[in-house]
Amino acid sequence: MGGTFEPENIVVTGGCGFIGSNFVHHVVREHPGVHVTVLDKLTYAGNPGNIAGLPSDRVELVVGDICDEGLVDRLVAGADAVVHYAAESHNDNSIADPSPFLETNVRGTYTLIEACRKHGVRYHHVSTDEVYGDLALDDPARFTEETPYRPSSPYSSTKAASDMLVRTWVRTFGLRATISNCSNNYGPYQHVEKFIPRQITNLIDGVRPKLYGDGRNVRDWIHTEDHSSAVWCILTKGRIGETYLIGADGERDNLAVLREILRAFGRPEDDFDWVRDRPGHDRRYAIDSAKLRRELGWEPARTDFAAGLAETIEWYRENEPWWRPAKEATEVRYRAQGQ
Ligand SMILES: NC(=O)c1ccc[n+]([C@@H]2O[C@H](COP(=O)([O-])OP(=O)(O)OC[C@H]3O[C@@H](n4cnc5c(N)ncnc54)[C@H](O)[C@@H]3O)[C@@H](O)[C@H]2O)c1
Repeated sequence: MGGTFEPENIVVTGGCGFIGSNFVHHVVREHPGVHVTVLDKLTYAGNPGNIAGLPSDRVELVVGDICDEGLVDRLVAGADAVVHYAAESHNDNSIADPSPFLETNVRGTYTLIEACRKHGVRYHHVSTDEVYGDLALDDPARFTEETPYRPSSPYSSTKAASDMLVRTWVRTFGLRATISNCSNNYGPYQHVEKFIPRQITNLIDGVRPKLYGDGRNVRDWIHTEDHSSAVWCILTKGRIGETYLIGADGERDNLAVLREILRAFGRPEDDFDWVRDRPGHDRRYAIDSAKLRRELGWEPARTDFAAGLAETIEWYRENEPWWRPAKEATEVRYRAQGQ
């Protein structure tokens, strides 16, 4: 391992989305010497309110597209690191219309790494465990950095493509980059289209939650705060050219998660509706994050899932003005898909 990298000016793409904005809060709180420039297009998933109230001398929002070469070049030239979160991120949307996924996830990544290469800027690429496809429910294996890529949806295949571009830019052009592939996040500021916020906001509205397929799909849940601390750790201590898997040993099936939410609302555990599964729905994801823990000494701190979920439910109860404007349109979209 080399010395610790100490960035002072970082560009965070997608910093008005769920995980990116949680990372911006984390950096402002934990790393007082760092200035953050957020580059975000403010798609339906981006909300400037996610970073509102942060000190203006620490965080600047630039509204723009990561595919805009001129803008990206200008911002990257003035930075010492780029942390790339911006993406089209929702599987169901990628099945309905893959085209924005190709543009943002593939072309957008290409635009950023070209600028980082040109200006010699450190780059961290935030990706997902979904690039590895899925595991069988009865398979004891977990994903490692050596697992072959086998993406299932247009979302995960465009993320996989972007990971490959980064690997190539490291090898062929000497880009100073690291990659992380993380499991499913939960916590505040997550869009109501996603599984946990959808169930919580349905219950707040007195609507029965909806569960896909047979509910046995397993996800490896991590609190978004732990994802942020892991990304910072990799950015500052990771070995150039390496991939690190991020996970917190949080495997649970969707039925168990839904029952935990129902319990928190004091509702019977079968008080929900089954809905049609989505095509190609992955069965199980599970992360082995031993490399990150062993090499860089990272450990998750928020591993009490019930406590993290209770806090997240509380956040949605207290922040209805944040999620309400997106709720109806999201449910209309799901109804059209029979879900
Ligand atoms: N959500 C998860 O559980 C999870 C797990 C592992 C990895 N990831 C990865 O983390 C990243 C962030 O995910 P998220 O759940 O926060 O997504 P999100 O959909 O909540 O946020 C994405 C953000 O990117 C912005 N954006 C989209 N296209 C853009 C463009 N062309 N130019 C500039 N900004 C653009 C959006 O406005 C939004 O603010 C993604 O790269 C995703 O693949 C997510």
